[in-house]
Amino acid sequence: MDTLLLGTSESELDIAASLLKSGEVVAIPTETVYGLAANAFDSEAVKKIFAAKNRPCDNPLIVHISELSMISDIAVSMPQTAKKCAERFWPGPLTMILPKKDTIPLVTSGGLDTVGIRFPSNETARRIISKCGFPLAAPSANLSGSPSPTTAKRVYEDMNERISAIVDGGESDVGVESTVISFEGEAIRILRPGKVSYEELLSLTDKVYLDDGIEKKVSPSDIVRSPGMKYKHYSPKAEVILIDSGLDEYKSYVSSHYESGVFSLLFDESEAIDGVPHLVYGISSEEQAHFLFERLRQFDEMGAKRVYARCPQKSGVGLAVYNRILRSAGFSVVRLDGGKG
Ligand code: TXA
Ligand code: MG
Repeated sequence: MDTLLLGTSESELDIAASLLKSGEVVAIPTETVYGLAANAFDSEAVKKIFAAKNRPCDNPLIVHISELSMISDIAVSMPQTAKKCAERFWPGPLTMILPKKDTIPLVTSGGLDTVGIRFPSNETARRIISKCGFPLAAPSANLSGSPSPTTAKRVYEDMNERISAIVDGGESDVGVESTVISFEGEAIRILRPGKVSYEELLSLTDKVYLDDGIEKKVSPSDIVRSPGMKYKHYSPKAEVILIDSGLDEYKSYVSSHYESGVFSLLFDESEAIDGVPHLVYGISSEEQAHFLFERLRQFDEMGAKRVYARCPQKSGVGLAVYNRILRSAGFSVVRLDGGKG
């Protein structure tokens, strides 16, 4: 059956909530990317998310809440550092891994005894959760492995006829998924970088660790603290290669490797190379985060076979941009002299 397209009027959100209450899957906007939502307490509903996405069943889902009081139905306890994070960054693009209660079925947590909790700042997402009265499990609304969708149109392309409805709340603001963190005593471990940055988390505690899986390919013998790290991610059909270099080295590398089907992903129009088709994704880390996934999807529409991407700055949300390109490139990086490292 065709997927229903809904706006954000009161009556349309009532329809979205009633579908969710009857155990259906509905895509919803959030400030990071679109999510594929279902009742987090209902295993049968959650199974439909995994089926719609073709997602491996050991990759856990994030549970979304619309008020702090909902945490007590989901998590056993909250360490002091987590409380500080909630005070400072919620509602917002931060997911905290906490010990789960039995109310959260193992289907939702991918078999783990922990659960990722997120309190989104997006108004529409919160209105839908409030109308439901239960938390929503929601992974990014793409087919497993593809770039996350930042518009309802992109969700429709991946999910038409696979889910009941899509709520169109306009373009996602941030553009990359939430920061995922876990707690080790007083310390915070970043499992996935996002808009809430390493630097910002350092303002709460001096012990913030970046998990190895952020910059390194996980090998089968490694301890994986977040199952998502094991899987191929954010990949367009084109082969993506990240070029870590200054502009001159980038230009000469791409020119000498040019063939039909090669595209470049640049910060700015001024970097264009004669004869090489390109897209730009922005100069600031915020712009790059906002546009990255959309650009990856556009390359596919343009028939790109290989994309040489300029390497983003790794500070602030830039670390998230770097992490997503690195994964879309299958960790394929060319480092040339003049790189910023
Ligand atoms: O911004 C976001 O987080 C978006 C929007 C829709 O909220 N959601 C999202 O979900 O990106 P997803 O499923 O695409 O990514 C969740 C990541 C996965 O890599 C998963 O392995 C990890 O979080 N994760 C979830 N629960 C976890 C847990 N209990 N322990 C460790 N990692 C967990
Ligand atoms: Mg995802």
